Amino acid sequence: MRIDKLFADNGFGSRRDIKRLLHSRAVEVNGVVCADASFRVDPERDVFTVEGKPFRPRTTVYLMLNKPAGVITSTDDPAHRTVMDLLAPPWSLMDLFPVGRLDLDTEGLLVLTNDGPLTHRLTSPKTGVNKTYLAVLRDPVDEAAFAHYDAALRTGITFHDGYTCLPAVLARADNTGCHTDSDASAEHVPSTPHVQSSLHVPSIPLNDPYRTVLLTIREGKYHQVKKMFKALGNEVVYLKRVSMGSLDLDPALAPGAWRELTQDEALLLREGV
Ligand code: URA
Repeated sequence: MRIDKLFADNGFGSRRDIKRLLHSRAVEVNGVVCADASFRVDPERDVFTVEGKPFRPRTTVYLMLNKPAGVITSTDDPAHRTVMDLLAPPWSLMDLFPVGRLDLDTEGLLVLTNDGPLTHRLTSPKTGVNKTYLAVLRDPVDEAAFAHYDAALRTGITFHDGYTCLPAVLARADNTGCHTDSDASAEHVPSTPHVQSSLHVPSIPLNDPYRTVLLTIREGKYHQVKKMFKALGNEVVYLKRVSMGSLDLDPALAPGAWRELTQDEALLLREGV
């Protein structure tokens, strides 16, 4: 790969910043000054120094973000704050992108990465990775309603436009998957979580176990979960993604906070597809 791409992926700034760094003769590859932005390098084998200090590049980066409501899942948007705007350097300077989409008002697990092939595999309808959502519903779901929803979801809900969803799995939820202020007191955080202090954390109506359910789906159509409950005559009033494949949202991450995946988690993500 080109050295300017490698350095951009490692948070050295824009291509222009990197060109300037290279022209200042601060970068050596295998002991030889490299001033050419198009120079091709092997990040696994070549040895790099920057301003005389060893630099071991990473080729792939995986972040787990607890997406808050009110930010858009996009790399760029003229009107809204995006999930990328939540990041701080060096991550904000890397060419990362979100894996899949969550609605503006949906919270929860969003992976940000520069691993294009993995993103493709995780979001491809052919792969059908399980995604579990915690949904708070407008109307309580008593035992009879639960049995009805469960049967309909297992068979495949049909939308008004005639589209029939793949089978999905419904479960009751306790409140453990939900954010409260005390959740942010990290007990088992594998690496330091980061959060922008200015973020507004909304309070969530999660105290009714009869209105709080978990739904696991294998597809990701626009407003999928909301439309599924609408087709059942109910309405989603709060939605949060709590897992994707075998990767669970870290409950210590408050909305708006992110951290890098541990090596085990990155492996879980890759092996899950
Ligand atoms: N389903 C929805 O309706 N919204 C989301 O953000 C994700 C899944």
